Amino acid sequence: MATIKVRRNGPYVVLDDEVTVIDWNGRAYPVKRRPVALCRCGRSSTRRFCDRTHAQAGFTAEETAPVQTRGEDGEEP
Ligand code: FES
Repeated sequence: MATIKVRRNGPYVVLDDEVTVIDWNGRAYPVKRRPVALCRCGRSSTRRFCDRTHAQAGFTAEETAPVQTRGEDGEEP
């Protein structure tokens, strides 16, 4: 199972080297860097992949996943 890390003020980073990014026709995009970083600011010149423009553009996105509390047995609710 792939894990996707949401970077603070940055891209989605796919933490799996076996990932393939395909277009709507099913054709694979060439991937030049790993891990794959997918743009979420919408300003990348290499759309779909992050080119770090988010930093110059001042993109901010600091939302986090909700905190989950564990039960007494350590299991998640
Ligand atoms: S998130 Fe990096 S360029 Fe968009």
